[in-house]
Amino acid sequence: MAENDAHPHLTGRDFLTLGDFSASEFTELLERGLDMKRRWKAGDRPRTLEHKTLAMIFEKQSLRTRSTFDIAMFQLGGHSVLLSQNFIGVGVRESIRDVAKNLERWVDGVMARTYGHGTLHELAEHASVPVINGLSDRYHPCQLTADYLTLMETFGSVDGLRLAFVGDGNNVCNSHIQAAAVTGVSLVIAAPEGFDPDPETLAAARAKGADVTIVRDPREAARGADALYTDVWISMGDEEDADRRRTAFRGFTVTPEWFNDLSPRGVFMHDLPAHYGEETVEEAVHHERSVVFDQAENRLHAHKAILHAVMAAEPA
Ligand code: CP
Ligand code: NVA
Repeated sequence: MAENDAHPHLTGRDFLTLGDFSASEFTELLERGLDMKRRWKAGDRPRTLEHKTLAMIFEKQSLRTRSTFDIAMFQLGGHSVLLSQNFIGVGVRESIRDVAKNLERWVDGVMARTYGHGTLHELAEHASVPVINGLSDRYHPCQLTADYLTLMETFGSVDGLRLAFVGDGNNVCNSHIQAAAVTGVSLVIAAPEGFDPDPETLAAARAKGADVTIVRDPREAARGADALYTDVWISMGDEEDADRRRTAFRGFTVTPEWFNDLSPRGVFMHDLPAHYGEETVEEAVHHERSVVFDQAENRLHAHKAILHAVMAAEPA
């Protein structure tokens, strides 16, 4: 794929959930991300987003998403504008619609991290430019794009992989389900009763043929897995429910001892930040079988692929 090729079918599209993309579109994004990473490391400096600007709205904290979208725009020759909720007060100081109607006059794309997923839909409905989900209460599609880049690098291909997600059926878990539907990866989720992933997301993925199983025992899920993935028990916005969650998730703390149950090539994954002593421990994240910092690195290359795909040329 030539670096300057646009993706006519992706140009101008929103990137709100992986459920909106076909298997071939997602594969194309992954291939683009791997290609961009390889070429960047070889010294190639394509400026496919020269003179383009991305607005970045953050209602919640972020290290990885904020840094890597900013760096991605810079590396592609463009520019980003950081708008924290304290500055702009989306839906408080000004309506979501009016924020969208202002931004579309200045920028070529909007990336937003929101509490409610509905805020992203409203931004997307009213903005003529693409809106990218930088995490909502329901989905984290950019994370899963980076995670699948990491799986492709680690295993050469994702064909035939068995992935275990243990913990809360949260935004990251819901995006795992959608990723499984477009990649054919076999996904086993272990969550305590009452913390299952979104049933509509699960039903939609299964209707597309996704192989997703839900169990209650996290050690059972881990057995034979090629990748064992966990995420925090208390996501941003869940803080008031912290005590109940800590009780419900007892027995779900992934330690290096669990790695003995994985397939011989099995790796450990986490999107970060980690809450050590809860869903995992420092020794697991920094273990030789951990690919956690590869995932973090790949956020940059995934975001470059996404930005290039939706912003590099005018909508068809
Ligand atoms: N994994 C992830 O989205 O990290 P941040 O919250 O730091 O952006
Ligand atoms: N589930 C976590 C992911 C953070 C990147 C949260 O929403 O806080």
